[in-house]
Amino acid sequence: MRKNNYFGAGPSHLPNAILEQLSGAILDFNCLGLSIAELPHRGKIFEEMLIETQTILRELLLIPDDFSILFAGGGASFAFANIPSNLIGSRIGYIVTGRWSNLAYDEAQRISDKHLLLNDISSFNSIPQLDTNITDKVDFIYYTSNETVHGIQFKNFPNYNKPLISDMSSDICTRKIDWQLNKIVHASACKNLGIPGMHIIIISNDLLPKCKAQPHIFNFKTLVENGSLYNTPPTLQIYCTNLMVKWVKENGGIDFYSAKALQQAELIYPIIDKYPQLYISNLDKNCRSNINIVFKLPSSQLEELFLKEAEVNHLYGLKGHKVVGGIRISLYNSITLAQVHMVASFMEQFAQNYVKV
Ligand SMILES: Cc1ncc(COP(=O)(O)O)c(C=O)c1O
Repeated sequence: MRKNNYFGAGPSHLPNAILEQLSGAILDFNCLGLSIAELPHRGKIFEEMLIETQTILRELLLIPDDFSILFAGGGASFAFANIPSNLIGSRIGYIVTGRWSNLAYDEAQRISDKHLLLNDISSFNSIPQLDTNITDKVDFIYYTSNETVHGIQFKNFPNYNKPLISDMSSDICTRKIDWQLNKIVHASACKNLGIPGMHIIIISNDLLPKCKAQPHIFNFKTLVENGSLYNTPPTLQIYCTNLMVKWVKENGGIDFYSAKALQQAELIYPIIDKYPQLYISNLDKNCRSNINIVFKLPSSQLEELFLKEAEVNHLYGLKGHKVVGGIRISLYNSITLAQVHMVASFMEQFAQNYVKV
């Protein structure tokens, strides 16, 4: 039986309506007698779908006309390497607030020793205030707007008068984006925009002349000039992203999902705060993620019990990432508020059963 209440961090739960369309399209896409996985990527039908996907995403996120939207194989981790490869010669300063920005910084260092770490990384529990003596030394600032593993989210985009490069893998389509500040946004498809194996890059066109990655396949200019069709693109992933952006639009767009993101946080964090001896979080309250809610319980036995009882209540995928342990509730756009209420009620009940008075 399908586990509908699946709160995994990515690949994420997909709406049933989308899975139904996908399963039909796998067998026969639009009565063409071809599977979506067989559809030629140079054909009119696929090209129109790709352009439609870009158009709807542009509309949803109010992406200015002078930004390009690209679809590329590999997940967001691929962008950890291809962004510094393109911007070779520039110095990128990294704000490292958790696992994903740390990996991005690590990858950048392999490409050039020019890049700088901008903050102290002894603990990942707050958004650092940067010293402008350091930010003045860099050409770009890279940050991860929502750290999926550590549960830390930038509520305001870091504004240090430097163009920003943002990894929005886990909060794209849950917030408005300031395009004056953010000049490159990249995101893995497999949370709010479809299925694994593809990333999306949104880049200001005035950066294209700076893109100097040697391999054609890495260079953003190649992708822009070929409309994301330099080689065979991840066609199935693009189709799923097409379904997802239409679904987001039909359900009320970014206004709806940004309001929902706040509402879901308001349902779960008060329970964490009500039972601090059971639900342990050391994050600064100003940066607690609205999307990936992370906490620990006092012992691994209690955590196992929590997960076991959650499953009895038909709530799945709540185990924290292996590097931090604990519990993680991932509340992407496909999770409804009714499902968030189910988790909240379960947490309340669990606390009443296990908090010693
Ligand atoms: C914020 C963030 N960045 C990057 C990645 C890596 O994405 P991928 O596995 O698609 O390479 C993830 C995956 O969970 C993520 O959450």
